[in-house]
Amino acid sequence: MKKVSSLSELGLGDDVSRAFFRPLQQAAPPSPTKRQIKISVIGTGNVGMAIAQTILTQDLADELALVDAKPDKLRGEMLDLQHAAAFLPRTKICASPDYAVTAASDLCIITAGARQIAGESRLDLVQRNLALFREIVPPLARYSPDALLLVVSNPVDVLTYIAWKLSGFPPNRVIGSGTNLDSSRFRFLLADHLEVNAQDVQAYMVGEHGDSSVALWSSISVGGVPVLSSLEKHQIAYEAEVLESIRKAVVGSAYEVIRLKGYTSWAIGYSVASLARSLLRDQHRIHPVSLLAKGFYGIPDDHEVFLSLPARLGRGGVLSVANVQLTDEESNRLRSSAHTLWEIQRQLGI
Ligand SMILES: NC(=O)c1ccc[n+]([C@@H]2O[C@H](COP(=O)([O-])OP(=O)(O)OC[C@H]3O[C@@H](n4cnc5c(N)ncnc54)[C@H](O)[C@@H]3O)[C@@H](O)[C@H]2O)c1
Repeated sequence: MKKVSSLSELGLGDDVSRAFFRPLQQAAPPSPTKRQIKISVIGTGNVGMAIAQTILTQDLADELALVDAKPDKLRGEMLDLQHAAAFLPRTKICASPDYAVTAASDLCIITAGARQIAGESRLDLVQRNLALFREIVPPLARYSPDALLLVVSNPVDVLTYIAWKLSGFPPNRVIGSGTNLDSSRFRFLLADHLEVNAQDVQAYMVGEHGDSSVALWSSISVGGVPVLSSLEKHQIAYEAEVLESIRKAVVGSAYEVIRLKGYTSWAIGYSVASLARSLLRDQHRIHPVSLLAKGFYGIPDDHEVFLSLPARLGRGGVLSVANVQLTDEESNRLRSSAHTLWEIQRQLGI
């Protein structure tokens, strides 16, 4: 039996509509100034679908386009989301392995990526993902030349650099989800410990997403109270190692989820949806995201690397970077990550 996804595939669309509704006389066409928001998600695996469903439930787009290299899985995911239409804000959902489906997107979110194979070096993984991004980024840029590009696939900082190079877009329009998720894990752990709402915890992890991310201890506050100076005022002793063990717990929490359920999805889904909202609704909110970091905190101007720094996000992408105070150790670690990434990128030949 032929499967259909909508009445228009049965050839009934326009006739049925005319039978139910009569147009107003002298009706004007829709306002040309009304902006429809279109988001495309590339890769409909665990992460892509968590992002897609959060975008739908949070009513962030008028149109959602999905792309994946596996046509059956892609169509299955599209139908499954379409079948929830009765419970969701109205959003047109379409899907195709052909990038034409993404045309005129406001935001393209890339989650497609090769997974690390046992024994494979980081550089080999990057090389495989570079080949994949060569298939993905140029058509996205061609079909949506004014879009914002948001990279989620790992290793996110290097892949954001690759997406920037392959797209030819200005750097403010190419962003990596970076440490936005690490920072949310950090806020959760602190909030859980202090029994407060995580939304009242201001805490940033910056730098490279993952193992070598840097926790900005001096800028952490809870309900407006700076944490480190409050500990000092109350003469509560703390050791640098204790703080470092908390940072490691943040990094380890991702590995724990992967060990237990095989992948991470819900938190990255909410994290990316929060970035989509700040960007497309021009919220000017501060998020730690991966951006072109050369020239910041002593990163040399010739090191074209993407690293996470707290940035003001809006409809134009990265609007500016917050002037946070880093200790000498924090900025040294940032520069060391920048150097490592630059060395990897130099071997890519793009
Ligand atoms: N930045 C972060 O904070 C963060 C968090 C979690 C996961 N991730 C990363 O997100 C990526 C996706 O993770 P996942 O669990 O969804 O993986 P997954 O294997 O479930 O999904 C990947 C999808 O990409 C598709 N794909 C592969 N090549 C493609 C191509 N050329 N064109 C279109 N689609 C293609 C696959 O068919 C698959 O559906 C990984 O790189 C993962 O490491 C990043």
